[in-house]
Formats: sequence, C-alpha cells, structure tokens
Amino acid sequence: MLVSTTIKESRRIIEAWRSEGLTIGFVPTMGYLHDGHKSLIERARLENDKVVVSIFVNPIQFGPNEDLTTYPRDLERDRQICEAAGVDLIFAPSVTEMYPEKNLVYIDALILGDRLCGAKREGHFRGVCTVVAKLFNIITPERAYFGEKDAQQLAIIEQMTKDLNFDVQIVPCPIVREPDGLAMSSRNTYLSTGERQAALILSKALSVAKNLINAGERNAKVIYQKIEEVIKTEALARIDYIEIVDAKLLQPVTIIDQPVLVAIAVFIGKTRLIDNFFLREVSSR
Ligand code: PAF
Repeated sequence: MLVSTTIKESRRIIEAWRSEGLTIGFVPTMGYLHDGHKSLIERARLENDKVVVSIFVNPIQFGPNEDLTTYPRDLERDRQICEAAGVDLIFAPSVTEMYPEKNLVYIDALILGDRLCGAKREGHFRGVCTVVAKLFNIITPERAYFGEKDAQQLAIIEQMTKDLNFDVQIVPCPIVREPDGLAMSSRNTYLSTGERQAALILSKALSVAKNLINAGERNAKVIYQKIEEVIKTEALARIDYIEIVDAKLLQPVTIIDQPVLVAIAVFIGKTRLIDNFFLREVSSR
C-alpha cells in the first residue's frame, strides 16, 4: 500500500495505473476510520482494480464553533486499517497542500443545502462540495463511495456530479450500525459511557417512526411528534432538528405519499450525532 501526501505524487501513481487500463474506486474520508468506512472500502475493493482512500480533515467544512481542532486523528491507526482492507493508495494531504491560499472560488449546493444539516451548519456543504470536487479532480476515480448516514451530503454530491459533469459514478452505501443500533461515526468516540447509552435514543426514535409509517401513518406531523416525544424521554439528548423531507429536493412534506428521508440531528451532551432512514417505496393506505 502506498501513502502519498502530495497531489503531484498521487497524480503520478494514478496516471501509471491509468496507462495500464486499471479502474479506480475512491473512498473520501476524514480519517479515524471505523467499520462504516471499512464497508465502503470493501465495496470499492470488489468493484475496482485499485482502491484509493483520502484522509483529510477538511477545515472549510467546519464552522467557527465546531470541532475542527478536536476532531479525532490517528494516521497510523488508519494506515493499518487501510492496509488490512486491501487499499492501494492513501492520499493524506496537509491543509496547505489542499489549500495553498484562500479559495476565491467555491462550489455551493443551493436548495439541497438549505435545510437539515445545511441550515444548522452554515457553509458546511460549500466546504464539502469544494473539497470533494478537488478530490475528484486529483484522484479521477471511476466510482466514489459515500455512506447513507450522511444522507444530505450524498444527495448533494450526487447532484453536484450530475450538474458539473464529473465523470464518476457515485455509489451509495448503507448505514453501518453497532450491534445495539447506534450508527457508526468517528464522533462516537467523544461520548462518555453514559452518553454512549443515551445516544441509542436516535436509532430508537427512528425505528418507532419507521414502524408508524409501516403501519400506515402518512401524516408527517404525527411522525415528527412521535420522534420528538421519544427523544425527549432521554435527559442527555437535545434535539437539533427533526426533518421529514422528499428524497429528491430535501424539502419538507406534510403527507408521506412519495419517497422521503426522515433525518434527525441530536446533541448528546456536547456531541452532535445524526441518523436517518430513507423510505423509497410508499404504499397508499
Ligand atoms: O463524509 C466525510 O467524511 C466528509 O464530509 C468528506 C466527504 C470526506 C469530505 O470532507
């Protein structure tokens, strides 16, 4: 496995693979890899000749009061995980390698970034789109793998790829959960033992909502209230948002009569966690 910290060297490696006619699968990450990332790498391993993982904590997607400085980092641990998972190249640039000077041009998500995390984290998706576009231009993959846990990010990247004609197939991958239901996240490492237990309220609230919808409830307000009620039973939880939006434009729905995304963000203590489910097929009552 190769590890490169520069754009120039990564391009040289990738050009050599290209000249041999090899395909490239790309898994962009901010490091501190967990089983969710591993599932993306495994899928990329199955579908491509070469697998590239980027490890870069992208400063421009963090707001001024967010956890950029404390975000967990451990390149040696990540290197071992990637090696064991059969990764061919880690691209781990420094901030100055990626942003030698302040950008004068960014990519923005418009309506898709208006709600959910976009409403709560100003500039977040501008930072995500810009870095992912840069990474696509550096790695030039055939396929790029994104987890459905970051559902809004996935929808925006899919749209960006289409709108800006990136020649890459975006491959969505299912959320990976701990055995007790907690969605895997690098930020779970912030949780104390008590908070880790309290964090189960996210998946619990979503599963109650899913059961209600499966039982025929179609009123989004009823679903919203049920999720709110369940989360409020947990003293350590503070709701950041609960959203029930259409799966295409991510705008709120009142009646669930089309594919929807049910997404929540909840603070457990100081840690902000997100979780969601997509409802892709909606039967009439
Ligand atoms: O999902 C993430 O880890 C990040 O948002 C990404 C896609 C690597 C961009 O920095």
